[in-house]
Amino acid sequence: MTVPAAPFTPAPMPERVTIYEVGPRDGLQNESAVVPVAVKAEMITRLLDAGLPVIEATSFVHPKWVPQLADAAELMGLLVDRIGDAARRMPVLVPNEKGLDRALDLGLEHVAVFGSATETFAQKNLNRSYDEQFAMFEPTVRRARDAGMDVRGYLSMCFGDPWEGAVPVEQVVRAGVRLLEMGAGQLSLGDTIGVATAGHVQAMVAAFAEAGVGVDRLAMHFHDTYGQALANTHAALQVGVTTFDASAGGLGGCPYAKSATGNLATEDLVWMLRGLGVETGVDLDAVVDTTVFMADALGKSPASAVARALAGA
Ligand code: HMG
Ligand code: MG
Repeated sequence: MTVPAAPFTPAPMPERVTIYEVGPRDGLQNESAVVPVAVKAEMITRLLDAGLPVIEATSFVHPKWVPQLADAAELMGLLVDRIGDAARRMPVLVPNEKGLDRALDLGLEHVAVFGSATETFAQKNLNRSYDEQFAMFEPTVRRARDAGMDVRGYLSMCFGDPWEGAVPVEQVVRAGVRLLEMGAGQLSLGDTIGVATAGHVQAMVAAFAEAGVGVDRLAMHFHDTYGQALANTHAALQVGVTTFDASAGGLGGCPYAKSATGNLATEDLVWMLRGLGVETGVDLDAVVDTTVFMADALGKSPASAVARALAGA
């Protein structure tokens, strides 16, 4: 089956979109099974071969907090040996200077700090208050930039928080601007529990524009908990966003949203973008093959509708 061509002229869309693959990190951090390091390396090299331009490989966080990614140094060492510079360019999460030091030791070139737009999630995810998280990031980002690294800033709970409820758009903009002013080159807006809807997404982009942050500095990070991730992506495309986070097979979930499905699935995103005529450089069949490979490794069927349709998985 191939994507049917649109029988009408679609609304103006960016010509090209960057898919920022987070499956090996956001996906696997939320799986109950701990995946062997060799399988992770195979997943990542398959995704690279599928044409994913950016692959977030793992996290240098406290291993007790995320045991699924406790093998981060071993994995990156393995990948550097196998694919050299392509591995060094893969982003990894670092919450603090300790994480940054671990990434620097391996010669990595791209890190991401991850903050929260809300007080409660900053405490639950980082063991820091809202303000303390920025104090932790500041020297981390400064030293990473001084070392010539690319730095991404994530912001979680941008569209709603399971403890605090609705999160005002202005609160998100204030937190996002703080990360950018600190030196993050790109800001990824996380719908951590998948509650966003299309109008909210467009209002968020407009509020950032009003604060002087253009779409060229934004990425969208949708989880599909309420089945809105593709609709939200379409809404963001209409207002000019060109970087989208996605996870092969829709792997993962969210420990803070029970029964949540994972991130927007990479193959679902590629299918939609192909139909819209938006370039990604990603080979759909190769992503689906990777999803099937990981489904076998994890012993469960993929959450992705496109993988199920194409591979009968
Ligand atoms: P803490 O317990 O407050 O840490 O945790 P600490 O600074 O007090 O240090 C305690 C011990 O941890 C020390 O060791 C440190 O060296 C060690 P000791 O002296 O006791 O032997 N330590 C570390 N070890 C390894 N790597 C490190 C590190 N840092 C300290 N980097 C901390 C604070 C931030 C470390 C902890 O809360 C943590 O690791 N949190 C990570 C949580 C996480 O990874 N969450 C998932 C990612 S975020 C996400 O998924 C959302 C996103 O997808 C977007 C969205 O969907 O919204 C990005
Ligand atoms: Mg996430």
